Amino acid sequence: MYSPQSTKKLQQLTEALIAKKELGPADIAGLRDALRFHEYRYYVMNDPMISDTEYDRLFKSLEKIEAADPSLIKPDSPTQRVAKGLTREFPTVQHLVPMLSLENSYDADDLNDFDRKARELSGLNEIEYCVEPKFDGGSISLVYENDQLVRGATRGDGVQGDEVTTNIRQIRSIPLSAEFSSLGLQTVEIRGEVLINKENFRQYNEKLMEEGIPPLANPRNAAAGTLRIKDPKEVAKRNLEVFVYHVSYYSLIKGAQTPEPLTHHDSSLAMLWQLGFRAPFKEKKTFNGIEGVIQYCHDFEAKRDGLPYEIDGMVIKVNDLGLQDKLGMTSHHPRWAIAYKFKARQAITTLIDVDYQVGRTGAVTPVAKLEPVAVGGVTVSSISIHNEEYIKEKDLHIGDQVLIERAGDVIPQIVRSLGEKRKGDEKKIRFPHNCPVCESKLFKEEGEAVWRCINIDCPAQAVERIIHFASKDAMDIRGFGEAIIRKFYEMKFLKDIPGIYSMALSKIEGLEGFGKKSIENLTKSIETSKKQPLHRLIYALGIRFVGETTAKTLAQAIEHLTDLEKFSMEDLQALEDIGPKVAGSVHHFFSNKTNREMIKHLEELGLTLKNEKKQLSSGGNFTGLTFLFTGTLPTLKRSDAEKIVENNGGQILTGVSAKLNYLVVGEDAGSKLEKAKKINTVRIISEEEFLSMVERS
Ligand code: IVH
Repeated sequence: MYSPQSTKKLQQLTEALIAKKELGPADIAGLRDALRFHEYRYYVMNDPMISDTEYDRLFKSLEKIEAADPSLIKPDSPTQRVAKGLTREFPTVQHLVPMLSLENSYDADDLNDFDRKARELSGLNEIEYCVEPKFDGGSISLVYENDQLVRGATRGDGVQGDEVTTNIRQIRSIPLSAEFSSLGLQTVEIRGEVLINKENFRQYNEKLMEEGIPPLANPRNAAAGTLRIKDPKEVAKRNLEVFVYHVSYYSLIKGAQTPEPLTHHDSSLAMLWQLGFRAPFKEKKTFNGIEGVIQYCHDFEAKRDGLPYEIDGMVIKVNDLGLQDKLGMTSHHPRWAIAYKFKARQAITTLIDVDYQVGRTGAVTPVAKLEPVAVGGVTVSSISIHNEEYIKEKDLHIGDQVLIERAGDVIPQIVRSLGEKRKGDEKKIRFPHNCPVCESKLFKEEGEAVWRCINIDCPAQAVERIIHFASKDAMDIRGFGEAIIRKFYEMKFLKDIPGIYSMALSKIEGLEGFGKKSIENLTKSIETSKKQPLHRLIYALGIRFVGETTAKTLAQAIEHLTDLEKFSMEDLQALEDIGPKVAGSVHHFFSNKTNREMIKHLEELGLTLKNEKKQLSSGGNFTGLTFLFTGTLPTLKRSDAEKIVENNGGQILTGVSAKLNYLVVGEDAGSKLEKAKKINTVRIISEEEFLSMVERS
């Protein structure tokens, strides 16, 4: 796509654009070229050349130029992915060519059969194959006309699918335009797979669980489901990715020659890769004969877990497109391709019983006890089944046969119960009315799916809070795991979180498993944990809905943990990705006297409640202060004003939030000013006041 020379040119162009003080309509073509290039580096190559902040600045400059003169906007401008409003419905559309599925194979014998049949039908001694991963997501078709992306659709029943163009445009690895015309092509239909990578999936599920919503079973469901969301902004947030692997249709521009040579490798994968698509170009390999193919499939299976996205097999395709035509298809499948499926990560087992566990927030979680079964190399004997509604939805009964799945590193899930296999002696699962630990009555809030024990003294909650506090992702107190904490709690040696830091450990010397050395080690790791960064402590407090990401956002907004006691609901909601639900929970936690006393106690015990990073920011009199400029300033250029802040050790923010200390307002200030007015802690000043602050410093 980009030769070393054009890469260098675009890099120089980028530098020139970044260095320029004011960008205007004359820079529009350059800005678009640069932004497209950096999207390609980031989303297709996975090898960015500029920082996110630099990219954002260039993007904003382009947005500003286009907003000043909307006649300059083009549908394939990088700014035009972002959609406004909701999609009402997804119209049904007909694919240009039906989307067939592939026949499956499971071992070397199946692949040898496939090869033998293809050789017999073609009369050839040896066939060349192209082998690539079988991506496990949602399949889509894309139509480009005169170089522009005009349509994106889901597979549907193979003949007709749902038109989801707006959502497809949110996927940054899909180019909004591509130079098919340079190859003489007018209309092109491409097939591909939409994926959500494992890390994004994990984060997404973590967020769902923080909100008490059952997680999605696998990245495949998440990707396919996201394509059908009506709010394109939500789609954009999920960071979908794509691999395109097949050209199903093309028409030529009048007078153009059919491109040669015609192989899957050159005419599909290499062409798409050259045009800037994310095709499996580096992942594919061609072989003469089936032997190498079989080996490559085995090699890839061994690498499966190390990939950032899910694949469930390999696809083997006859490379010569002429030969593909000759082999044709059966009523269901092409004869020129076959899927090789990796070993299943699904298994069937029996649901023996249900246990109910009380978490640190009092939530009662049902856990299915299973007949132990191996799934993808791991033995599974219990699986969370989340809540009462989930049990009803999946129609789970004790004694049922259940299909379970473990997708990659994801926690195993029950896919469904096999109702058709029931014998009649299966038992309905009855959710308890009382806490299984302290026996107090359980409550369920309106609109929530979770039953809770609201007895604050419930021993189950207290011990769970301590376990969470000490856990690896929280304060990471090594050697102080679940079993020891439960034991100490039962012995009444430890009763709450501050207790961890005042335990008289010498008293337990001689207790089973506690010699001098282990006590010494535990003392050391408890001591070390006092220095954990603030965001870990916030996460460790176990505030409802506050996961690691939210804890980081909160930590960044404050200098000292007790600052959060002063944050109003509005202040909290002004922070990135914090909505009313999370804000309400944080506010509730810090309004509680017992919690505030506990925090004070922790500080007395020597824990770090200060945001150390904040204290460290560079020298200058604006150190630790954040600024944002809005509207037209009377004398200063925006970029010069920002430089002044940075030269004095201050920081420029990209948006109004509770992190912002000063909003400097010029003429025609708009939404930023309105937003800032709602946050008590933001000081709104004029350029004059700003300049006098500079003078004073
Ligand atoms: S080729 C006519 N290549 O697997 C051939 N399919 O049943 C079109 N898939 O529906 C399919 N990775 O959604 C092809 N590299 C790949 C693929 C792939 C995933 C999906 C596709 C198809 C299903 C096969």
